[in-house]
Amino acid sequence: MATAEVTVSPATVNEQRNERKPDPCIVVIFGASGDLTKRKLLPALFHLEQEGLLPEEFAVVGVARRDLSATFAKDMRDGILKGGGVDDDDPKLKEFVDRVHYFTTNFDDDQGFQNLNATLSDLDTKYGTKGNRLFYLAVAPEYFSDIIHRLGKHKMAKPGSDAWVRVIIEKPFGHDLQSARELNDEVNQVLDEDQIFRIDHYLGKETVQNILVFRFGNGIFEPVWNRTYIDNVQITAAESIGIEGRGPFYEKAGASRDVLQNHMMEVLSYVAMEPPDSFEASTIRVEKLKVWRAIEQFKLEDTVRGQYGPGTVDGQQVIGYREEERVDPNSQTETFAALKLQIENWRWAGVPFYIRAGKRLAKRETEVTITFKQPPLHIFKGTTNDCGTQVTPNILTMRIQPDEGISLRFGAKVPGPTTNIAPVTMNFKYADAFGKSTANGYERLLLDAMLGDATLFAHRDGVEATWALFTPLLEKWAETPVSDFPNYDAGSWGPEASDDLLARDGRCWKSC
Ligand code: BG6
Repeated sequence: MATAEVTVSPATVNEQRNERKPDPCIVVIFGASGDLTKRKLLPALFHLEQEGLLPEEFAVVGVARRDLSATFAKDMRDGILKGGGVDDDDPKLKEFVDRVHYFTTNFDDDQGFQNLNATLSDLDTKYGTKGNRLFYLAVAPEYFSDIIHRLGKHKMAKPGSDAWVRVIIEKPFGHDLQSARELNDEVNQVLDEDQIFRIDHYLGKETVQNILVFRFGNGIFEPVWNRTYIDNVQITAAESIGIEGRGPFYEKAGASRDVLQNHMMEVLSYVAMEPPDSFEASTIRVEKLKVWRAIEQFKLEDTVRGQYGPGTVDGQQVIGYREEERVDPNSQTETFAALKLQIENWRWAGVPFYIRAGKRLAKRETEVTITFKQPPLHIFKGTTNDCGTQVTPNILTMRIQPDEGISLRFGAKVPGPTTNIAPVTMNFKYADAFGKSTANGYERLLLDAMLGDATLFAHRDGVEATWALFTPLLEKWAETPVSDFPNYDAGSWGPEASDDLLARDGRCWKSC
């Protein structure tokens, strides 16, 4: 297929960015010995420092059960270097790492919390951080309650008169509707809702935020963004990686709880929501909620689950899920899930949304594909194109990652004496227009939480609305064990049933 590059005038990003600086504060990361802190959180905080977006009075404290005090700061430094965009001898890096501290405690240890509180007060004096705290719960979900409870018990959750305390809680928030409600109740006993920041890092991705800009900041797309013009919407989150040593977590989560109930539902809400009248947290939340509440209960026959067996990914032989470390050799956990859903509102009724996510697929590719309805093609009867005889529909693809960008496929006349039509693509690439970025999505979310802006965070109602959709399905799946797992080879595009799901409707994934 031919491709036409679109010329984009490079915007001067810094001119356009609203320079917002948070108050002095300490970021306290619980579960700091885990991968997330080193791979994402510290690099993101350092990127903010590089952009001059952190306050001068600032410190980071990692908290975990293992005593890593001797190596933590150096480890974080390595993580920041690996995150890219910084030289080893950058003086800013040294200054930043000097403000990284470590504290060892069990999460159910009252004495440990008292000592932590005293340490934070000492650091306030040292750095001038004024009692402001951003607690980040980067721990396994079973520890959320313990930590929140002790923050309350030791008076660390309610700030002094001029200070603020905010808490970021990692996903998954609960493992079904009931547990999410219970967790919300427990958290709300200790913290006000405006202190809680339920994070979904997909909302920190520029390409996800751009969905709203693309839809509502341009005149030409919104008028066709509805059931009159759109045939179907597909959202894919394909990963080539496996479970990366997270056996115990993944065994309980599976693809549905790990990615579909949160990341995919967030992306879907951005694609489907009505125009909000502002970017304020409360307005966006209401619009998202309206979408989720308009989704019809999933039909079992419109869902597919898969689990990868051994195969080849990126030219490397890889083991199957059941052979992964700390995974049950007879595991019923799905590493792939696909489903068709319907949004029963005036904009979308009758337009199928197909969503799928999986591990160990052919390649890493997260994207939204909008296929438009065909116009009457009578005048082109008998014309041919590269693929056969039919004119192919217009397809708009929003590439969330990698190769971030947007492309539009349309038909063009093949030069020559006859009227032959070929599909061609206009292609916008973020990297060409704005330069390659080392940002990992957490920058914006950490900054917003420090600023108290909850627009890009999940709200209690939203979390419960998405669990209300997934819980009945997960219960049905739990009652009906699968007999054909593993049912897809690592390195493929998932089980055959996933293709059949669309084939039944005369469609196929992506570009038919
Ligand atoms: C996390 C999931 O939330 O998102 C992981 O727990 C998944 O299993 C990851 O790999 C995907 O994030 P990204 O930013 O790499 O698409």
